[in-house]
Amino acid sequence: MRKVLVTGGAGYIGAVTVHHLLQAGYEPVVVDNLSRGHRHNVDARRLHVLDLAETGALVELMQSESISAVVHFAAFAAVAESVENPGLYFSNNVAGSISLLRAMEQAGVRHLVFSSTAAVYGTPDSVPIPEDAPLAPVNPYGESKLMVEKILGWLDRCRGLRSISLRYFNACGADLEAGLGEEHEPETHLIPLLLRAVRTGQPATVYGNDYPTSDGTCIRDYIHVTDLAQAHVLALQALRRGASSAAYNVGTGKGHSVLEVLRAVESVTGQSVPHQIGPRRPGDPPSLVADPARLKAAFSWTPRYTKIHDIIATAWEFERKRNA
Ligand SMILES: NC(=O)c1ccc[n+]([C@@H]2O[C@H](COP(=O)([O-])OP(=O)(O)OC[C@H]3O[C@@H](n4cnc5c(N)ncnc54)[C@H](O)[C@@H]3O)[C@@H](O)[C@H]2O)c1
Repeated sequence: MRKVLVTGGAGYIGAVTVHHLLQAGYEPVVVDNLSRGHRHNVDARRLHVLDLAETGALVELMQSESISAVVHFAAFAAVAESVENPGLYFSNNVAGSISLLRAMEQAGVRHLVFSSTAAVYGTPDSVPIPEDAPLAPVNPYGESKLMVEKILGWLDRCRGLRSISLRYFNACGADLEAGLGEEHEPETHLIPLLLRAVRTGQPATVYGNDYPTSDGTCIRDYIHVTDLAQAHVLALQALRRGASSAAYNVGTGKGHSVLEVLRAVESVTGQSVPHQIGPRRPGDPPSLVADPARLKAAFSWTPRYTKIHDIIATAWEFERKRNA
């Protein structure tokens, strides 16, 4: 009854969520093709190495494991890569999700929590961004996630599939209790790149310092991975209680510029961050900050990590242990 399928559970956010689902009394069953995740992130007894495209195998797994709900992380998630190779993103993220949704329908599984993203808002008119702001992605990655949100809307109306889309802002930090942190390869996220620069002495690149922001660098809302994982547990519980389909922002409501994060990394590590200023990256909006009021009100969710310094401290500890 409490068995949930977690796609992409060998990845960063998925693996931390598996840990928190277990703590909340769920039995997670993981599907991952290991294209971007790590075998070492998941207990081997839970892991099924499958691709989202394998509809028939997903149906069999859902039926044999009596899956009651799905938490769907599996996707490609690098903005710049999506601009270079849009087809890869529409194929993996949209066609992959359609295959999963068809499998759910065949197996009679009717609850889904979906990993969406702040990238669905594109370049917002103002920040903080509420959920009813215009949805106008500026890169194929964001568009691929919005397409899946729209498909979910139709499946709710036509087939009664209930889903909660969580629009994450910038996931970051490590869950030290779970022993899990960010290990993307190649890494594209700011905090691990800055920590890597501290460790190796190889300069990190700040992509653009001519944005219309206070110091010219991009502003993002950094949400700790443990707080994100908790939001998934709460969303699943809400679906079981009969919650309606909806989309929620998951962020702290506070923004930090790239240079502010860089200074915070220097304060946490006690070392200067070697860096250089590079050109803007295509598809990067100047400022993305969540209005998380809807999630807080609906699920009594509150982020435990609200200070960028504390978030970076968890990532730094993970990074040091990993390279010890
Ligand atoms: N990291 C962030 O800041 C962020 C922000 C917003 C949204 N998201 C979304 O959250 C989800 C997880 O992100 P993450 O940072 O943990 O990424 P990740 O790359 O660490 O994890 C994704 C996992 O999905 C797996 N996967 C990809 N395509 C698959 C397929 N076709 N079949 C089976 N497995 C497949 C990968 O192997 C990987 O383990 C993604 O959907 C991403 O779009 C992430």
